[in-house]
Amino acid sequence: MPNLQQLIENIYAELLPQLGAGKVADYIPELAKVNPRKFGIAVETIDGGSYFVGDAEESFSIQSISKVFGLTLALGKHGDALWRRVGREPSGSSFNSIVQLEHENGIPRNPFINAGAIVVCDAILAGHRPKEAIGEILRFVRQIADDDTIVIDPAVAQSEQKTGYRNFALANYMRSFGNLGHPPDLALGVYFHQCAISMTCRQLARAGFFLGNGGRMQNGFAVIPRERARRICALMLTCGHYDASGDFAFRVGLPGKSGVGGGILAVAPGEASVAVWSPGLNRYGNSELGTHALQLLAERTGWSVF
Ligand code: DON
Repeated sequence: MPNLQQLIENIYAELLPQLGAGKVADYIPELAKVNPRKFGIAVETIDGGSYFVGDAEESFSIQSISKVFGLTLALGKHGDALWRRVGREPSGSSFNSIVQLEHENGIPRNPFINAGAIVVCDAILAGHRPKEAIGEILRFVRQIADDDTIVIDPAVAQSEQKTGYRNFALANYMRSFGNLGHPPDLALGVYFHQCAISMTCRQLARAGFFLGNGGRMQNGFAVIPRERARRICALMLTCGHYDASGDFAFRVGLPGKSGVGGGILAVAPGEASVAVWSPGLNRYGNSELGTHALQLLAERTGWSVF
């Protein structure tokens, strides 16, 4: 294995001329303000190495990457009963699509499309107040990242609360099928705040470590059983990039979860947890440069689940 620090520095330098590629998400007004010329990579290896380059210590909105942490928490609360309310199949549709819900009884295809993640947030809410559920999610993320400084960006949450008409439509539609236990604004309050968690690449790579390490954190604490970590990784591989999940598997070959903030968390089971960030997105809403960086990293390290 070549020197990992050198390796990510080389990838960073090679991609630097493409800085600003893609289009920053602007349907959430607060995200449109982000500098498109940011680029960071962080790697935490299972054997204890820690490597980073570029803007890896700058916080960004993790958006849909948070769906992995929400799912982990909801499975801990409800176990396999959760799968009665949300499926485990790739949707082949965009992340905010509503079409399949009509023919599929308001049960979203998977927990990573918006509709599925809203159901997962509804399950975390479980009769409590949104504030308590949001606090629980934030505490969980801080715990798995082993970092109490992680916060939710209130401006991003409010920005989505004001403009998230699609998500309101999804939530209302699912409620009409009886697949939302709380009024849509409460479930969405949890969802928007979960998406507005702000983290750096370094924090994110640490938070994802347990997924690549059979459910255990760096300090040995068992967050979830090994089997559940495998299953969450399987869902990341098949559904983590929406209608570009097949392409991501083809190019990178690792479980990954993207967010419209331009971050991607990728997991090489038994090897490493990797976080990349570059705000310019491709037409599927996934980081353009981030995907490219992960492709090069996987090629050069040989990390792959295949
Ligand atoms: O609900 C939304 O549209 C955003 N809060 C999250 C979407 C997202 O990150 C899609 N990922 N690439």
